[in-house]
Amino acid sequence: MSLAQAAERVAAEFEYKKDDVNRAVKEFIRQMDEGLEKQGQTMSQIPTYVTAVPNGTEEGLYMAVDLGGTNFRVCSIQLHGNSTFSLTQSKVAIPHELMVAKTSRELFAFLAKQIELFLKTHHGDHYHSHIERRQGAFGPPKDEEVFSLGFTFSFPVQQYGINKGTLIRWTKGFDIQDTIGKDVCALLQKEIDNLNLPVRVAALVNDTVGTLMARSYTSPGKTGTLLGAIFGTGTNGAYVEKLDKITKLKNMGADAGDVDNSTGEMIVNTEWGSFDNQLSVLPTTPYDNSLDAESNNPGVQMFEKRISGMFLGEILRRAIMSLVEDPNVPLFSDEDSSKNDMRSTTNFAHNSPLRNQWGLDTSFLSIASGDHSAGFKVTRQTLDRDYGVSAASAEDAEAVRLIASAIGKRAARLSAIAIAAIVIGTDKLQHPKDIATTDDTPVNEDEIVDVGVDGSLVEFYPNFEEYIREALREVPEIGVWGEKRIRIGIAKDGSGVGAALIALVADKAMKGESSFSRPAGFAGYVNSFISYINRGIRHM
Ligand code: GLC
Repeated sequence: MSLAQAAERVAAEFEYKKDDVNRAVKEFIRQMDEGLEKQGQTMSQIPTYVTAVPNGTEEGLYMAVDLGGTNFRVCSIQLHGNSTFSLTQSKVAIPHELMVAKTSRELFAFLAKQIELFLKTHHGDHYHSHIERRQGAFGPPKDEEVFSLGFTFSFPVQQYGINKGTLIRWTKGFDIQDTIGKDVCALLQKEIDNLNLPVRVAALVNDTVGTLMARSYTSPGKTGTLLGAIFGTGTNGAYVEKLDKITKLKNMGADAGDVDNSTGEMIVNTEWGSFDNQLSVLPTTPYDNSLDAESNNPGVQMFEKRISGMFLGEILRRAIMSLVEDPNVPLFSDEDSSKNDMRSTTNFAHNSPLRNQWGLDTSFLSIASGDHSAGFKVTRQTLDRDYGVSAASAEDAEAVRLIASAIGKRAARLSAIAIAAIVIGTDKLQHPKDIATTDDTPVNEDEIVDVGVDGSLVEFYPNFEEYIREALREVPEIGVWGEKRIRIGIAKDGSGVGAALIALVADKAMKGESSFSRPAGFAGYVNSFISYINRGIRHM
């Protein structure tokens, strides 16, 4: 079989057709509903206790930390009250041994240490005066001298309150058994206190919730954001749901904690990475199967394992290796490479990272799929520099590119399922004008359904949004007009700002100050979350 034919055969395995998308949207809505009714379903549909989204008028200085992927970020955020903010941040890679440590302490002590370092570097005065107070020179620290911190912890957590929640399971390569079932806020606070830092963990936030909040704070116009979604190392979404649809809250009894009924809505963290773990509608190739079987959490996060950055590189690596290992397919084995720049025989090194699990970084998909250079030079150079394939032929690179693009496109089409299901499930497209509108009718501001996204895949994978949109148009309940009404906007680093916003709300609640009912202009207070949401609803 020629290399081109073999590559086309593999690429075809990743096709996900219109009918598949539509079947999956229906199943997604079914699993969403199931998760709202009962605990312990494939889609966790976690109530977040956040009952409103911001409107851009909030002010104040807050801290946020973000644990959820390859890096740990610490930031302080000054909310200016006019939809803008300034952010100071530091970022450090999480050492792999801490991701799989024996005890929670090892990880959380490391996190607290990073917070200390950040305070010393960026808020030195505040830090030192606090330490002096602690030592008795100026009396005990006052409440307002303590930073309220929003803790973005992007793993499935059963939340019991705004700053309380126990870890359900680790995802994305983390595996510390000792943490399961423990309150992650308490674990962090303990280590912060051990270092005597002027910081109170005020809110526990999933990155998707943060993204939704941040997008609402910054998004243009008056439209409230419906959905915050991450397409990065992992994938997940949080959306605004009607409180009376979250029927499991009633059965959770005391476990449900305090629910604020005033807006009639609550943000739900779907944990859609685990959509269809039973594989009733998701596509499956031999590469998906072996990736899952050899992962540290087989059988779960099946949607995530087909979409997100942690896994796409590994799917591609397995597909490439299946061709390399097929004696009838000439991949990376060009004996007469006279057409190569280097005029030498292609060599596939014995120690190439491509031969090892997780050896291919997902960024390579973006490089290959977006390679428009003559003879796919950029892809060939990357194979040579990073992956031990010297003097790859243009045909090699083209084959790799074809498969990479098929994997990326499948990921985008799968992502569209989640967006479509949430837009349809929440009935956001209902609008009398729908019937009379044509394709080229401009969309009014009040007809927009706003979606905030973040993550390396949406940001860097070529045409990711376009592929999502293509699939959205193929869903009859959305169609061409509905797709136009869906505005997708990047909420860059949204989880930090979002966490700060939730810390702000939590802070006011703790001090007995209403976040919602203060008159406008009362500096530092959120004042119209509810009316804002209601306005959004009325327009729909
Ligand atoms: C994983 C986590 C989820 C998070 C997502 C994106 O799916 O379980 O909590 O939101 O990754 O980071």
